[in-house]
Amino acid sequence: MIKKTFRFSNSSVDYYFEGKISHIKQIVGSAKTIFITDENVFAAHEKQLNNRDVIVLKAGEKYKNQPTVDSIIEQLIEMEADRNTVLIGVGGGVVTDLTGYVASVYMRGIAFGFVPTSLLAMVDASIGGKNGIDVGVYKNMVGIIRQPSFLLFDASLLKTLPENEWRNGFAEIIKHASIKDATMFKQLEQNDIGLYQKRRKDLSVLIQRNALLKTKVVQQDEFEKGDRKLLNFGHTLGHALENQYDLSHGQAISIGMAYASSLSQKMNGFTNVDRVVELLGQYGLPTFTQFDKDKVIKVLKMDKKKTKNRINFILLEKIGKATIREISIQQLYENL
Ligand SMILES: NC(=O)c1ccc[n+]([C@@H]2O[C@H](COP(=O)([O-])OP(=O)(O)OC[C@H]3O[C@@H](n4cnc5c(N)ncnc54)[C@H](O)[C@@H]3O)[C@@H](O)[C@H]2O)c1
Ligand SMILES: [Zn+2]
Repeated sequence: MIKKTFRFSNSSVDYYFEGKISHIKQIVGSAKTIFITDENVFAAHEKQLNNRDVIVLKAGEKYKNQPTVDSIIEQLIEMEADRNTVLIGVGGGVVTDLTGYVASVYMRGIAFGFVPTSLLAMVDASIGGKNGIDVGVYKNMVGIIRQPSFLLFDASLLKTLPENEWRNGFAEIIKHASIKDATMFKQLEQNDIGLYQKRRKDLSVLIQRNALLKTKVVQQDEFEKGDRKLLNFGHTLGHALENQYDLSHGQAISIGMAYASSLSQKMNGFTNVDRVVELLGQYGLPTFTQFDKDKVIKVLKMDKKKTKNRINFILLEKIGKATIREISIQQLYENL
């Protein structure tokens, strides 16, 4: 296990690479731990999770909501969780977002850590301290920025990850490459999901590279005043499509990135739309869908990145370099 500590504005977070769930005792010491996971992760990794205090949630984005929060809190009270209890979210982004949120409000805030089990959670969702839930079609409408105490990475948990979830994870990896890392973009062009699944070492290196890339961006701008906004590349339209059209997060932001790339061509002189679209396709992601413009604009108007009738939109300048542009909802509508 390799430990690296990262400093954020109000706290520091210990990252354990090449760890195992069994190392958690060593990490938290004598504190009482309660694990939160979902039914799929529990079923796939039962050996590592039973014999512990564990709350098992129904799986899926549609449970990332207030009723689930209420039910977790009721179970925590029943299990006599107190201010010294550490909550440990073992799962994909839904589990980590929920765990961090509950831990931040239960008894006005208790400690928490994550063991991300999906590729997406390893490279993105578990990092950066954004925790929260959805309200109806409005993604992540309620939440808080608060860092976990630790993150434990174990790439071998991915052995049981369904194929479509690998694609979702690669959507965020391609996002990172597009906005910040031209070298990684080239590497991705020379590979595919199957190759990374076979070459465990390459996969582990890729996960670390992405985890560190996101960490660095968040460290420099934890409360999203500037550069952290770049991580929303593909997400403005993506979020508006996600819940309405039964697309996964990865599929939705993939369509969002393809759209943002062509808008970048029109508004920002970006010349590599084809490369972005091809790379997304190479990793099994969609780059186009039919949608109802008015419905999507209605949701976009509620976007957290919006002020008045203008919205912050992330555009590419070139592969590996992104910019924030404020554009009007009208301009966006005309280009959809
Ligand atoms: N907080 C953030 O900064 C941030 C960033 C990106 C995404 N997110 C959030 O993350 C969520 C998406 O995360 P996700 O894609 O991990 O979704 P998810 O948590 O729903 O996991 C995807 C599916 O894979 C299953 N799964 C996870 N790990 C598994 C394993 N090892 N073996 C077998 N099955 C496994 C889950 O049960 C689920 O069915 C969204 O809610 C999104 O808003 C948050
Ligand atoms: Zn995302």
